[in-house]
Amino acid sequence: THAVTIAPSILSGDFAALGGECRALAEAGADWVHVDVMDGHFVPNLTFGPQMCAALRPHIQGTMDVHLMIAPVDAYIGAFAQAGADVITAHHEAGPHIHRTLQAIRAAGCKAGLAVNPGTGIDAVAHLLDEVDLLCVMTVNPGFGGQSLIPAMLDKVRALRALIADRPIRLQVDGGVSLKTARSLAQAGADVMVAGSAVFQGGPEAYGRNIRALREAA
Ligand code: DX5
Ligand code: ZN
Repeated sequence: THAVTIAPSILSGDFAALGGECRALAEAGADWVHVDVMDGHFVPNLTFGPQMCAALRPHIQGTMDVHLMIAPVDAYIGAFAQAGADVITAHHEAGPHIHRTLQAIRAAGCKAGLAVNPGTGIDAVAHLLDEVDLLCVMTVNPGFGGQSLIPAMLDKVRALRALIADRPIRLQVDGGVSLKTARSLAQAGADVMVAGSAVFQGGPEAYGRNIRALREAA
């Protein structure tokens, strides 16, 4: 299959040393850095806000990919754009006006990502394709790293790849990406792989090896 973009999720990094983690990821050949923003309401966990993104920005090479697992979302888009996000992804399930949210993300100068939870069907995105630069298929229920991929999501990835057709939309998978699952995900049509535990396992000296292994597996 074609080359995939690897987007390590710093949710699996050392929270006391995230600037250094981002530099180590750049050194290790990461394409993007994926930042999981959680509000303890949309998902049952709390992580980072826009101040953390702004602080990490100078330590990130390439794309800062901000995954917002928060509701409501619109009031925070400006702050994450200001913090230097390149991609801002919001969830279809986060509110009744996702179309407006996606437009606001682009208006703030960022690429607009649309994430769908495992229980959300592909119909949810069919009428939004003109508003998105990236679709994110949650291959686990969002909230925590280190979960196993839900196998039924492979069919969803395949269906979305067909729906995207020749549009310039990246197809991202998030959750349970590993050496075991990367190949089938890539064959199903995913071209951006978020990976937390699969990249961070073994500590900083293993990041480069882990990223290369994921690329090869895909
Ligand atoms: C889950 C997050 C993911 C998570 C992936 O809510 O959105 O980005 O960190 O972690 P792994 O790769 O360990 O499943
Ligand atoms: Zn994520």
